[in-house]
Amino acid sequence: MIALGCDHGGYQLKEAIKKYLDENGIAYKDYGTYSEESVNYAPFAVKVARAVMSGEAKCGILCCGTGIGISIAANKVKGIRAAVCTNEFCAEMTRRHNDANILCMGGRVIDAETAVKLTKIFLETPFEGGRHAIRIGEIAAIERGEL
Ligand code: RB5
Repeated sequence: MIALGCDHGGYQLKEAIKKYLDENGIAYKDYGTYSEESVNYAPFAVKVARAVMSGEAKCGILCCGTGIGISIAANKVKGIRAAVCTNEFCAEMTRRHNDANILCMGGRVIDAETAVKLTKIFLETPFEGGRHAIRIGEIAAIERGEL
């Protein structure tokens, strides 16, 4: 299951992503927000981040106006590696090298077609492991106060 969340600035991207997931039979859970009425992004970020860390979701997708605020909020949850992506190269590399577990995008930065392309890449690209696993281990060490 993919956990989805957004604020008003990312609502249209989330809806486009849901359409893509529906068309491709990919299970998801929509944690809101459910309209373009103005809301704060942190509560949606944390719901998706906790769904990922609990194992309920295999990964998450979060959208706000820029993708930045909602990524900063998600990254406060231990174990989350939320990456803002604006192009296909970043979406691929953040899976291959960073093992990102949440993709973040901005509805005021990219269009819906691009967001769907990045979603597909993010969901289909594996982590390379190896030296990148060591680097991610160091990020976890920061969270434990060991680095
Ligand atoms: C909301 O206006 C906007 O600040 C938010 O969607 C996001 O872009 C924050 O980073």
